[in-house]
This record gives sequence, C-alpha cells and structure tokens, in this order.
Amino acid sequence: MLLHTIAEVREQVKEWKKQGLTVGLVPTMGALHNGHKSLIEKSVAKCDKTVVSVFVNPIQFCPGEDLDKYPRTLDEDTKLCDTIGADIVFAPSPAEMYPDAQMLSNDFLTYVIPPFFYVNKLCGKSRVGHFDGVCTVVNKLFNIVQPDFAFFGEKDRQQLIILKKMVKDLNIPVDIIPCPIVREESGLALSSRNKYLSANGKKEALVLSKILNNIKICYNKGIKDINALKETAYSMLNENHSLEYLEFRDKNNLEEKETADSDTIVFIALRVEDVRLIDNIEL
Ligand code: PAF
Repeated sequence: MLLHTIAEVREQVKEWKKQGLTVGLVPTMGALHNGHKSLIEKSVAKCDKTVVSVFVNPIQFCPGEDLDKYPRTLDEDTKLCDTIGADIVFAPSPAEMYPDAQMLSNDFLTYVIPPFFYVNKLCGKSRVGHFDGVCTVVNKLFNIVQPDFAFFGEKDRQQLIILKKMVKDLNIPVDIIPCPIVREESGLALSSRNKYLSANGKKEALVLSKILNNIKICYNKGIKDINALKETAYSMLNENHSLEYLEFRDKNNLEEKETADSDTIVFIALRVEDVRLIDNIEL
C-alpha cells in the first residue's frame, strides 16, 4: 500500500497497534537495491507489519551535494517492497514532512543535534550538518510510525552508531537492528550512488573493499600497528582514487584507536569519478 500522508500512516498503524501487532520501520531514500532488500526482508521476518519509508530528505544534503540528481525510482521501489511483503510504502512529499519549506534552517526548524564528539569526524567532517538532518528526519519518522523495531545498514556505520546514541539519549522506545553490508560478488558494497559510476569507475571502486580486506588479513596475521596497516592501503591507491579518510575507530563510540584490536572498525571514504564512496570493516 503506497501512502503519501502522515495522517494515513498514523491511522493504519493505530489499527495494527490495537490488534497488538509489532511494527518494523525501514527508513530509506529510495533507489532501492539489494542492500535495502535485505533490510526489508529482515523486518518482514521479524515484525508482524513493515513500513518502508522512501523520502529523499533535503535537510541531510549539504550545499553542493547531489540532492537534485539523487535517483528517484518510486514505481520500481514500490514494486520491490510489494514483492518482499512490506505492508506500507510511505513516500511523503517534502512539503508533507517540512510544511514550512522556506524555513529549513535551524533558525526556524526544530532539529535533533547529535553529540559533537560523534559528528566531528569521518563523514561528519566533510558533510557538516548531515547528521543533524539524518537524526531529525529519523526522529520524525519514529514519531510518525512509532515502530517497535527499525532497521539500518552497517554500510552507513557512523550513521548507525549516531542513531543508536540518539535513541539511548532521548529514550526513544524503538529497538535499532543493525544489518550487515550487502556486496556485489566483486566485493563492492551496494549503494544507491554506485549508479553514478561508469563501468570503469565501478572497477576502480573495488579498491575500497580490497583495502579493507587486505587490512583485515594483515591484522589477522598479527599486525596491530595502525600506521603499518595504513601503509598497506596507501600502496593500493592510484591516480583515479582520491582518498578522503582511512581511520581506525572504536565500534561503540567512534574514539580513535591507538592500536588495532577486536573493538576496531576501519572506515574508508574515497572519491572515484567524483563520486563519494564509503565502506567499513570490523576487525
Ligand atoms: O541511510 C539513509 O538512506 C538515510 O540517511 C536515512 C536513514 C533514510 C535518513 O534519511
């Protein structure tokens, strides 16, 4: 069932809650791929009812980012959700989510601001304000759908850690379910932004997963020194790769690691053909 308004979703969810049914929410920006499919499948398996939201959230895009050209494929997305067994696709317009369209800055709109320590690093460093937009829209979706469970991919690991922190700090009654990264056979992590890459760009993009796998192999062989592990990565880069960061951070609070251990996540972001790609691996 495709719904566009908050009121319709609320009414339907109220009915389900009356019947004592559990509700799962899969928040997305559409352009659904097999990564999203696995999140929706998990929700359908775990919950009585599943809502998939499809909303390209303007307030999480920074100036100069791809808000206007972000792929929008609602017909295909709705079909996929139906096939998997989702009960509602909630696809609101920007005006439905933000009625005061001229007033999206935090001078006028109430924002949920995640802690500086979690956002002043990794993607938050170059995408200033991005996680404010994510936390605000996810909080709105939680208030609209009131899900028991919400499903997020580990590909956006910083986002996942920040959202878990938001739920804990604000006592939001929802269980966040992390879902493993889905990869192409080649190793490339699935992302809606892969659509921007040429065939050659996709080949060059394999360097992200190759670097991460190589670091993990070296770590398993006993190399714990982070500089030594980073060196193995730098030698794999060429002029088609523009590295933004390669960092070793604690899996719970994103603190920088001094030596690699089993609580470490290695995060990478780099540009290929000017497309910004991210990936991560747990050691
Ligand atoms: O991960 C995404 O696709 C988005 O950041 C989310 C969680 C749907 C919020 O717009």
